[in-house]
Amino acid sequence: MPCTADVLAGFARAGLVIGILAAGPAAAANPADPPPQPAQGSASAGDLKSDGPTQPAKLQDGQYTDANGDPTYHVTEGGKKVDWYTMSGYLRYSSNCIVCHGPDGMGSTYAPSLVDALKGMDYAHFAGIISGGKKDVNASQELVMPAFGDNRNVMCYMPDIYTYLRARSDGAIGRNRPAEHEPKPAAFAKAEDACMK
Ligand code: HEC
Repeated sequence: MPCTADVLAGFARAGLVIGILAAGPAAAANPADPPPQPAQGSASAGDLKSDGPTQPAKLQDGQYTDANGDPTYHVTEGGKKVDWYTMSGYLRYSSNCIVCHGPDGMGSTYAPSLVDALKGMDYAHFAGIISGGKKDVNASQELVMPAFGDNRNVMCYMPDIYTYLRARSDGAIGRNRPAEHEPKPAAFAKAEDACMK
């Protein structure tokens, strides 16, 4: 059985493939495929403008990243419309994390608020905690953040969950399910299939 680091590296590669796949010639070959998304670099500054303090620096295949290359949100229409990753992250958070961290990342008596914890937490640090877990041995009650390194329902959606929580942490979106979202990118669906296999 591969160690967690190998699995993580594998998933991370699958994530990176998202952009590469759509750009490849195969994506354009089938006339039945949905029309291609705008190519990388074709987004104007206006397309990248987001509500909230963090502004995306780049858009590739429906995924927005900041100046450091970390995943970030694209929120428009006064917090009502979100990018696909934020929407997906909301759904994945709600099935895998909500039981301990509470609705909308607000925290519970058992686990800390992720709205607070995400402030200033970069993607690499976040991914490390999710895949490896975390244990507070000093707490009077033993607090355990489980390791999700072997759980594809979490690992295949790591950027999504980070993006959603970042939007919550930045105050770019409020509580509850986002009202509207950008379409699911074709490249996302491909990478998702590959990762979940
Ligand atoms: C079984 C309960 C449980 C589940 C499920 C759970 N967590 Fe946690 N999580 C915790 C606890 C408890 C801590 C605090 C651990 C500590 O203090 O060392 C924690 C800590 C964290 C931290 C670090 C916070 C900080 O301040 O450093 C992050 C980030 C996090 N969780 C994200 C997630 C995400 C994302 C999910 C869903 C994929 C998730 N957790 C699912 C219990 C859980």
